[in-house]
Amino acid sequence: MKNIKELDIKEKRVLIRVDFNVPLDEHGNITDDIRIRGVLPTINHCLDERARIIIMSHMGRPKGQRNPAFSMAPAAKRLSRLIDKEVKLAPDCVGDEVTAMVNAMGPGEVLMLENLRFHAEEQANDPVFSKQLAALADVYIDDAFAVAHRAHASVVGVTEFAPVCGAGFLLQQEMDYFNRAVRDPMRPLVAIVGGAKVSSKLGALRNLMDRVDKMIVGGAMANTFLKAMGYEVGKSKVEEDLVAEARELMDKARAQGVRFYLPVDCIVAEQFEARAETKTTTVQEVPENWMILDIGPATTKLFSEALANARTIIWNGPMGAFEMDAFSRGTMAMVQEVARSHALTIVGGGDTDVAVHRAGESRNISYISTGGGAFLMLMEGKSLPGVAALEQFNRVQG
Ligand code: 3PG
Repeated sequence: MKNIKELDIKEKRVLIRVDFNVPLDEHGNITDDIRIRGVLPTINHCLDERARIIIMSHMGRPKGQRNPAFSMAPAAKRLSRLIDKEVKLAPDCVGDEVTAMVNAMGPGEVLMLENLRFHAEEQANDPVFSKQLAALADVYIDDAFAVAHRAHASVVGVTEFAPVCGAGFLLQQEMDYFNRAVRDPMRPLVAIVGGAKVSSKLGALRNLMDRVDKMIVGGAMANTFLKAMGYEVGKSKVEEDLVAEARELMDKARAQGVRFYLPVDCIVAEQFEARAETKTTTVQEVPENWMILDIGPATTKLFSEALANARTIIWNGPMGAFEMDAFSRGTMAMVQEVARSHALTIVGGGDTDVAVHRAGESRNISYISTGGGAFLMLMEGKSLPGVAALEQFNRVQG
């Protein structure tokens, strides 16, 4: 795919797909603007080239209905503050009024379109809608890594109609880091996979097993593996239908010489509650009516040792219910270990970034991905529809 730097955008109408699907508090204030900051290099480059900058994004899941709670207004305001420049908000993303606003833009002006998902056609990758979006632009730039796993009109369909297409700096950077970490890594390569469900990570586990030297599994999903090893895990969450699969994955690890690490001790509680009584037990001794909610201190030590000689670490998913202080110690300890490592460290998806930010260690991680589902899809070894569309454009248009 072509990078924005390779394209002539001077004073052109540049339509940039970003992912400003940012979290809001109950008053509609943005609580984390990392996705907005992430596209500033692309926007600043466009400003330097005096392009007419048209920004489009989705926000939440308004199901094809116009809904003010999902307006792009807060994102437009935050972007305006970050670039210290007016960002006008269009009343819609297509239609006569929007076209008139785009036609009236001068060089270096910035316009944000209203939420793409106010139109059901966006998620349906509708060709007419895609064409309407493309008609707003001389150049289409995709800088929305976090939504690159969705074959939607503003991500995929639009590339069939836009005269010129390319990738923004964020999308390029995300792909470059991921490829360095997984496709062509410095070894040993260690993957840390955590989170609630094996089912949502099965594809990633299978794919990574062919690539990593060590695999560390924590979080509630480890329970299913512990069950597969024959341990009773009390009333911990277990995906019974995947116990056999978990066993196969461990067999595969052994056959391929991949070191596979599971928790050896854990923090348990009777209830899934912040104030519940807790205790530390080995994984063989989880009491019948108790559940595993975090990894224990011996596990932290074991996992840390596994990371000691790593030259590349990729991490997705927390080690426990870290949203509650009582069960956050394992995840926080792993953040410290990863941050302290001299390896190339890539963190993405599944709230792992939240844990890193909370621990104040963002600066000590080589790269924190802005993607959740997109990052997971890469971990599964699949290509992202958004990236594939740009590559296809290049193949056809040269
Ligand atoms: C995300 O937050 O993962 C992206 O913005 C994609 O959102 P979606 O899961 O609603 O498609």
